[in-house]
Amino acid sequence: MDTIYLDNAATSYPKPEGVSSAMKTYLDHVGATINRSVYGSAQDAGLKTLQLRERLKKLLHFPEPVTHVILTPGATWGLNMAIKGFLKPGDHCLVSSMEHNAVMRPLLQLAGVEFDRIPCDWEGLLDPADIEPLIRPNTRLLVMAHGSNVCGSVQDAEAVGALCARHGIAFVLDAAQTAGHFPVDFERFRLSALCVPGHKGLLGPSGIGALLMTDAFAKAIDPIVAGGTGSASDSEFLPDYLPDRFESGTPNLPGIYGWEAALRFVEETGVDALREHEMTLCRRFLDGLEQLRGVSLCGTKDLTRRVGVVSVDFRNRDNADAAFALETDYGILTRCGLHCAPSAHKTLDTFPRGTVRFSLGFASTEADVDAALAAVKDLSEV
Ligand SMILES: Cc1ncc(COP(=O)(O)O)c(C=O)c1O
Repeated sequence: MDTIYLDNAATSYPKPEGVSSAMKTYLDHVGATINRSVYGSAQDAGLKTLQLRERLKKLLHFPEPVTHVILTPGATWGLNMAIKGFLKPGDHCLVSSMEHNAVMRPLLQLAGVEFDRIPCDWEGLLDPADIEPLIRPNTRLLVMAHGSNVCGSVQDAEAVGALCARHGIAFVLDAAQTAGHFPVDFERFRLSALCVPGHKGLLGPSGIGALLMTDAFAKAIDPIVAGGTGSASDSEFLPDYLPDRFESGTPNLPGIYGWEAALRFVEETGVDALREHEMTLCRRFLDGLEQLRGVSLCGTKDLTRRVGVVSVDFRNRDNADAAFALETDYGILTRCGLHCAPSAHKTLDTFPRGTVRFSLGFASTEADVDAALAAVKDLSEV
């Protein structure tokens, strides 16, 4: 039985051609690290790292210098750096009720920091008008998932950014589910910081991501990791300049080579074309699911407000059992459960049973969607 991979919200698969070969080239023929030695292969690695930062700057409409594109081990790391680095005891923070634990867990670790959840509706969408009543004199930060990893709903980041700017509140966007799937514009959204993983819609390998931040935000945060940077080695203190201040330790160079190749594919194809393909399939999938009485659909059906993350709740069957049968009987790979986002499931009224999540990617096809619809029909009619 062939397998059909519909778990791109967890991590994208397959990767575009050129990603694994770029990583292999690094491992077999380059091998050097950056910012330490200056021989030819080290300079090759340095150049590739710079090209990766430049591609991220362009793709995400980042107006600040390329030095402010910080490479991290993933979105979770960037979110921890931004949240723990910025908030101090006595501060108040706002989050949406759709957040992933990559936001909630670091926030809950901070003693003396209070937060409120901005309630989202039953489709997982936030109304920016609900933010203002929650703002307090000590509200310094708003952190929001751009796209939901549970139901695919996408928030109006531009409206939220304008409101944050009006109130002098720093705005951190978690674009884990939108980067590469939906336009993300640092400048238009008036962001203070943006966190992206390399391995989801940006089609790179796992173990790498980026935190992009304004100079003002960078100056306001303390690095949570310190160590060797290969620079200012006469001092035992971290340098003040970026990216070194936030990039201690030897970076993930196979990841840098692989991600750079993946971004070349994203750039050449274009986010709009990737989105159009995924939304054509999403429309087909949503329309088909609507015909099935044995499942309820989570999130919005409005394609302008979503990405291709589609969650269903089986009415007459345990969701975990359905996901297991999807794999064993149909070869369809999905994710079931709470998807690291209990607050989102409480918002959508699917807590604690969770959902079965199908998530589309650039390599998904009409035949994949039709096979998933036929399988869901079979499994929901028992
Ligand atoms: C909305 C959201 N935020 C953050 C993350 C964390 O990303 P990573 O596991 O790549 O660090 C995820 C991963 O699933 C996510 O879906």
